[in-house]
Amino acid sequence: MITDESVERVREGADIVQIIGEHVKLRRSGNSYRGPCPFHQGTGPNFSVVPAKGLYHCFVCKESGDVFTYLQKRLGMDFPDAIRYVANKAGIVIEEVQRSAEAVDPRQPIWDLNSMVADWFRTQLWDERTGESARNYLALRRVSREVADRFGLGFAPRDLDAMRNHLVALGVSEETLLAAGLLVRRDDGDALRPRFRDRLMFPIVDASGHHVAFGGRLLGPGDPKYLNSSESPVFTKGRVLYGLHMAKHAIRREGRVMIVEGYFDVVRVVSAGFEWVVAPLGTALTEEQAAMLPRYAKQAFLLYDHDEPGLKATFKSGDLLLREKMSVQVVTLPEGEDPDSFVDKFGGEKLGEQLSGAVDIFERKLNELSRNGYFAELHRKRVAIDKLLPTLRATADSVTRDIYIARASELSGVTREALEREVSQMSPRASTVQSGRPPAPPHPDDRDIRREPERRPRRARPPHKERQLVRILLHVRSNIDQAIETVGPDQLHDPALQDIYRALLEGSAGDPTEVVASRLPSESTELFNELLADPIGEGEEVPETFAELLAHFRRMAVKKELHETQREMPIATPDQQDELLSKMARLRNEKNAMGDRSFKGYGPARPT
Ligand code: GTP
Ligand code: MN
Repeated sequence: MITDESVERVREGADIVQIIGEHVKLRRSGNSYRGPCPFHQGTGPNFSVVPAKGLYHCFVCKESGDVFTYLQKRLGMDFPDAIRYVANKAGIVIEEVQRSAEAVDPRQPIWDLNSMVADWFRTQLWDERTGESARNYLALRRVSREVADRFGLGFAPRDLDAMRNHLVALGVSEETLLAAGLLVRRDDGDALRPRFRDRLMFPIVDASGHHVAFGGRLLGPGDPKYLNSSESPVFTKGRVLYGLHMAKHAIRREGRVMIVEGYFDVVRVVSAGFEWVVAPLGTALTEEQAAMLPRYAKQAFLLYDHDEPGLKATFKSGDLLLREKMSVQVVTLPEGEDPDSFVDKFGGEKLGEQLSGAVDIFERKLNELSRNGYFAELHRKRVAIDKLLPTLRATADSVTRDIYIARASELSGVTREALEREVSQMSPRASTVQSGRPPAPPHPDDRDIRREPERRPRRARPPHKERQLVRILLHVRSNIDQAIETVGPDQLHDPALQDIYRALLEGSAGDPTEVVASRLPSESTELFNELLADPIGEGEEVPETFAELLAHFRRMAVKKELHETQREMPIATPDQQDELLSKMARLRNEKNAMGDRSFKGYGPARPT
């Protein structure tokens, strides 16, 4: 802790005109200095600095304070850092006392190390020879020196030893470098090498100003394009927002926060004058990141990619922010542009226009559904409502939720009361989810998971009856025509079985197995061969089993349809409800007629 006495000495010794003058063009005017206000980006001389009082004030936006508040608000320093900064400028030695042993955070050594390394990276970037390629890259992407410095950008050279030598000479141990993830041990021995080589470096600073990690971008094509520090006790990527430390005062001032996808988007948007911007670190926004924002602002603007994963991520992030009672706006940039490329091409003013054209997230979702014809007929309307419910349930602000429900009611023709009842019900069981494909598992390394191609983990064992059906069809092809009539491919939950079933339906019953196999995606051939190697045995009563299987799938289909029809009831008009009722009666009859017979021949034997 810095002693009060030191704080006062620093305040008295501070040259406020010089410090603010580094960022603002000030001109003397009597006892004060005047210039354009950096807080509201003014152009007239409305910003006044009074050295005798050690204060600044803007006559337009009313920002005011002393040299410390200036550094905190403009540069995002915390109070102790602001004091150290000014003391350093004024050549004042400050006294710091340790409050107690517990007050020292165990993460401090790594924060300090990262901060030293950030300095070193920066030195490399601006070193005449070492940094040339990286400086060329910055020039190519039209990033000025001023902007680069503002973000503390640096360069990690290709050299294997330079960073280590520099730091070891300063007394840093290799162990600490390993713990911070700056050096990694090669698989093949004890050789240590830098994690980041030949990359443009973005220091990642948490909201309190600690240097927690780095993101590094290759200067050209290659993989991975971006590399982050590995996760460690000081760094969990889902808990840090890039740019927040610098942006937080602007976010508070504006009452809104812009959320973009990447490092360069943040850099570009800030340099165009929009300082209230942050980005997650290559993953979709997390719950923890969303929870950090409401203390700074109540309104969020999402600027994600135009493509389908971008839209999905937008809606997913939107739900998280609505849960935090924020108001959420969506900006849709022209196809193929991210905020960086957009501003680079069209300029900051055009970004401003895009922001004023932002659409409320729920409205955007309604648009998307309506554009795809989801409100046209009852069955799709049910699906549409199911897509809206999670967002309505997430909307924690009750006034906003009422507005959303009213809009959804207006567009869908479903009464508000019905929608409210649906919202207050628990979310429907997973059984109503359309697709049987299991979700892709999260990717183990730190790449953007939403960009990973969809992966299908093979189930250890596909459902018994589905497997039997496909196996019988594979060996007794004459059954296929009958199967087509009763079992839709979508009824099979196992993706590989579904593939094989489709491949069987596609051709004619006489196709040789190689031809059927040739219609399969590679991930399904293993199961295909397995089924092929399991022929119909001596004692198997195929016709009986097959009939049982078809009855089973028919029963399942009727049950599902009954369930879906039931779920359409609450959102239907009275006329539609009459129709639904007779449909349900018909389905019930069919279900009863089939009985709930148990399934013979396979599975555990039942006592008779
Ligand atoms: P530029 O090509 O430099 O403009 O980057 P971008 O931000 O336009 O790229 P993209 O939209 O592909 O990525 C958005 C963000 O995802 C980046 O800023 C990174 O944080 C992250 N990202 C992209 N590619 C990778 C990768 O290969 N590895 C990791 N860890 N993160 C990545
Ligand atoms: Mn980009």
